[in-house]
Amino acid sequence: MTTRREFLRAVGVSGGAGAMFATMGALGLAPDAAHAATPKYHAPSPGDFTLTGRSAKKVVILGGGVAGLATAYELGKAGYDCTVLEARAVAGGRNRTIRGGDTETDLDGRTQRATFSDGQYLNAGPARLAQWMVTLDYCRELGVPVEVFTNSNADALIYNAGMSAPVRYRTAKADFYGYVAELLTKATNQGALDTALTADDKARLVSFLSGFGALTGGVYQGTSRRGYASDPGAGNDAGTLLGAPPALSDVLASGAGRYFSFELGYDQAMLMFQPVGGMDAIPRALTGAIGARRVVLGAAVTSVTSSERGVTVRYTRAGRAAEIKADFCVATLPPHLMARVPHNLGPDVTAALGAFGVTASGKIGLEYRTRWWENELGIYGGITETDLDLAHVWYPSYGYHGRRGVIVGYYNTGASAVSYGALTHPERLERALTQGAKIHGPRYRQDLASSFSIAWQKVPYLEGAWTGAPYGTAGYDLLLQPAGRVYFAGDWLSHAIAWQHGALVSARAAVTALHSRVMTSS
Ligand code: FAD
Ligand code: ALA
Repeated sequence: MTTRREFLRAVGVSGGAGAMFATMGALGLAPDAAHAATPKYHAPSPGDFTLTGRSAKKVVILGGGVAGLATAYELGKAGYDCTVLEARAVAGGRNRTIRGGDTETDLDGRTQRATFSDGQYLNAGPARLAQWMVTLDYCRELGVPVEVFTNSNADALIYNAGMSAPVRYRTAKADFYGYVAELLTKATNQGALDTALTADDKARLVSFLSGFGALTGGVYQGTSRRGYASDPGAGNDAGTLLGAPPALSDVLASGAGRYFSFELGYDQAMLMFQPVGGMDAIPRALTGAIGARRVVLGAAVTSVTSSERGVTVRYTRAGRAAEIKADFCVATLPPHLMARVPHNLGPDVTAALGAFGVTASGKIGLEYRTRWWENELGIYGGITETDLDLAHVWYPSYGYHGRRGVIVGYYNTGASAVSYGALTHPERLERALTQGAKIHGPRYRQDLASSFSIAWQKVPYLEGAWTGAPYGTAGYDLLLQPAGRVYFAGDWLSHAIAWQHGALVSARAAVTALHSRVMTSS
């Protein structure tokens, strides 16, 4: 049998390096494979209309989240006359950054006012961008500066209920990887894998495991990977190692290993990025590019009527009813809310919109007067994972060595998010501090300057963090098509739900379909 390496060598000899690189791409080995294969998007352009006798149309866009704003931005490139109707007082939808002075009134009528100090913020919704996401392309195109978001940090912590103390990521990883490598080495050497592996395979696997687990003679004994009780110093000070690892059984019982696969996810892998100064730089830049006069804030859509000749959208603004007529409409409201808007698009559309399950999620931002996690623990950004109902504690990836900083004290979903969301803000804060103190001790209550929490399921005009998607159903496919003159877009119509990438590629799909209809209609 020809091995992959022999095959590649043969291609290299006969076809040169170019052919070899292309072949590697086909095998999934070359780095450009996915990027090259992703369908390219062509924005509409004024030149498309030249000598066609056609012209750009009037389009009304429902919802001013990133999908709605990007729709207006892309159509605007070809001169379409776009109006975005946004019910909330700020554009951006779920892309919301909370700074001092911001207020939010939830569906229970409870108002919070943020008092974060200057330069401090909480990305209440989106907070991180993977390198492959089109969101970064928009940041480049719109001049939104980005910086690294630390999604995974060996110096952050893991704490599960029942642990006597939190453990550093690096320590937990060293122990899990070390013991797993030792066990697999033993199994290999004892012949347990003989039916799957050749003698050469076995030798290579054992060699890999030795490095992977930092084994000595096939045994895991713990190394500097676990960390130090006292760091290496000058001269003859080699530092003091943390010591021998706990027994294998205790390591397994800690449950810390469940968090390691996170950083391998295609959407969550390091490096990640964030816009400098807050995620809402994206909707702000989109709004600037569209022209703020085209984004009507405080405009809550109340009905949509599509006819052969155009679309009529009714809305209320400052207590008054208004309407707008356009040639086409792109609806980007969350599906469960769009399902409630009266329309004449048919019961199948309503049923399809209503078939998306909705997820609850919440976050709390805790502003501290000192950056004790950096100064005292040496944690610069990243995430502490826990099985407490906080789920994740985030350290800020900005403002290092500054005086203050905002920790995300919980970022949870599902039942935990529902139960935090049911509380008042002071109750959420107290619960978050009580739980967080299990990880960080009494220090967690000191130097706290202010806080702000969000429960997305309680935010007016959003009523949820993100949806599931009924992929493969007739209803989902129905919404990918226009209903009369109404197109749908939003992250819920993508395979990247809960990512702005999904909202943006969905907007591009609607723009492409609408523009192609305009270019081909008589
Ligand atoms: P939305 O933002 O929901 O926009 C819909 C708009 O419609 C809203 O502005 C709403 O106010 C408006 N609207 C509703 N009803 C009406 C009405 N009747 N009339 C007029 N307007 C109306 N993405 C990332 O890229 N990275 C992340 O790290 C990330 N983390 C997230 C964490 C959380 C907690 C949440 C909630 C989301 C996160 N996301 C993340 C997902 C991201 O926020 C969404 O995918 C994206 O913002 C969706 O954009 P959209 O335009 O499709 O929808
Ligand atoms: N995409 C969201 C996040 O990364 C869910 O937090």
